[in-house]
Parts: sequence; C-alpha cells; structure tokens
Amino acid sequence: MTAVLEATGIVAGYGEVEILHGVSVSIGQGEMVAVIGPNGAGKSTLLKAMFGLIPTSSGRVQLNGTDITNQPPDRIVARGMSYVPQTENVFPSLSINENLEMGGFTRSDGLSDRLERVYTLFPDLTNRRGDSAGKLSGGQRQMLALARALMLDPDVLLLDEPSASLSPKMVESLFEKIGEINSSGTAILLVEQNAKEALSLSDRAYVLATGENRLDGDAKGMLESEDMARLYLGE
Ligand SMILES: Nc1ncnc2c1ncn2[C@@H]1O[C@H](COP(=O)(O)OP(=O)(O)OP(=O)(O)O)[C@@H](O)[C@H]1O
Ligand SMILES: [Mg+2]
Repeated sequence: MTAVLEATGIVAGYGEVEILHGVSVSIGQGEMVAVIGPNGAGKSTLLKAMFGLIPTSSGRVQLNGTDITNQPPDRIVARGMSYVPQTENVFPSLSINENLEMGGFTRSDGLSDRLERVYTLFPDLTNRRGDSAGKLSGGQRQMLALARALMLDPDVLLLDEPSASLSPKMVESLFEKIGEINSSGTAILLVEQNAKEALSLSDRAYVLATGENRLDGDAKGMLESEDMARLYLGE
C-alpha cells in the first residue's frame, strides 16, 4: 500500500528533554490508523512532531512521498495534512462560519463550494452558521474543529483525542462522523483514550509506551488479543 504519511525513527521532545526515542508509524491512502497507549506515552508529542509544531532532531516525516520533516505547519497543511489538537481547536470569539472560512483561508478558489460540502457533512452546524463558536457544547465544538480541518480537503487528518470529555452519546456520534470522513477517502490517524472504540473503528493500530513503539498490527486482532486487553484496554 502506498503510504500517504510515513514517520520513521522520530526523535523529538521539549527543550533538552527527549520524549520520543525513535518512533515510526505509517498510514496508507484512505486508511484509518489508531495510536493508543498510556498517559504520557508521547502520543500528542508524536502528532506535534509530524505536524512541524516541535522540532524533530532525528528521523524523517514523509507526506505523499515528499520529505516534510521540520517544515512549518502552514506548508504542511498546504501539502495535504490537517491536524486537530485536543483543546483550543476552534476560535471561540468567531462564528461557526468564520471558523470554517479560517480553515479554508489558503484556498485560492472554491471556498464557497467547499463550505457547502462541509455543511452537508455536518448538518447540525448549518443552521447555526452565525452563532459564536464559544457558545457550542463540547461535542459540537469537536464537530466544528473536525469540520474546520476538512476545509482544505486533506489527504490525511491527525486527530488528538477527539472524544475526550464528551458524553457517551456524543462520543458515538463523533466516531460515526469520523468513520464517514474516512469512508469518503481521507486517511485518519486517530489518537484515543477510548482504545476499544478506536480499535473497532480502525484498520490498524500502534501502541506507544514511554516514547517507543510497543506493538502494532491489525486493529481487530488487537481488540481480540488477551495481552492487549490486560495491558491496554483496562480489562
Ligand atoms: N509542552 C511540554 N513541555 C514539556 N514537556 C511536555 C510538554 N508536553 C508534554 N510534555 C511531556 O511529554 C511527555 C509525553 O506527553 P504527551 O502529551 O505526548 O503524552 P500523551 O501520550 O499524549 O499522553 P495523554 O494520554 O495524557 O494525552 C509527558 O511526560 C509530558 O509531561
Ligand atoms: Mg495526549
């Protein structure tokens, strides 16, 4: 399978502190891949390193075969990768519509067509275009953050714990939406605390622990593995 995103031997951290000690992940075109692992494993750090938000001191990130290691996020977005951080992922003082326009601001054309496509995917946002994003519930805000990241029609989307602190019902509709986005052809790298749900939705998965690859493989197989259940699924 051709990799849309491939990170190889990533070493990164904060200042002098090395958090990732050579992590590798790859995502095929249109694939859904989960990254799970205990708190502090380095999952968010991996996303930040791949998206150019923190420096990678060793290793390589390739997007559609092009080396993007340590490129600034705006260049990476323009090349087809979007990222939804866990928090502060919308502009609360702007309206829903303005948030979406910001998401698509580098488009040279087709902004209004894309807006309508994204509203079709998120009908709940359509009637509230003018409402301020700060008034949305946690779940609606995650939907808006997802919608915003889709404005440039990315080849691959990085999601950092989209279900965190949502009600079970919201989690269900959010995962449904993530599945729909993936079915429409966008590859997704999903970091999740909700390991079971993430595995049932994904094609493959990686387990990270203490800044290293611990396990990887077919997601359904991992879901059924007793070792996995005991070590990482809280059973
Ligand atoms: N901005 C930062 N400055 C310094 N250290 C940080 C920073 N962000 C995270 N760390 C440290 O890096 C390590 C990995 O953190 P990271 O957020 O990547 O873990 P995680 O796997 O995403 O965990 P969680 O499941 O809790 O989100 C932790 O020890 C954390 O304390
Ligand atoms: Mg995290």
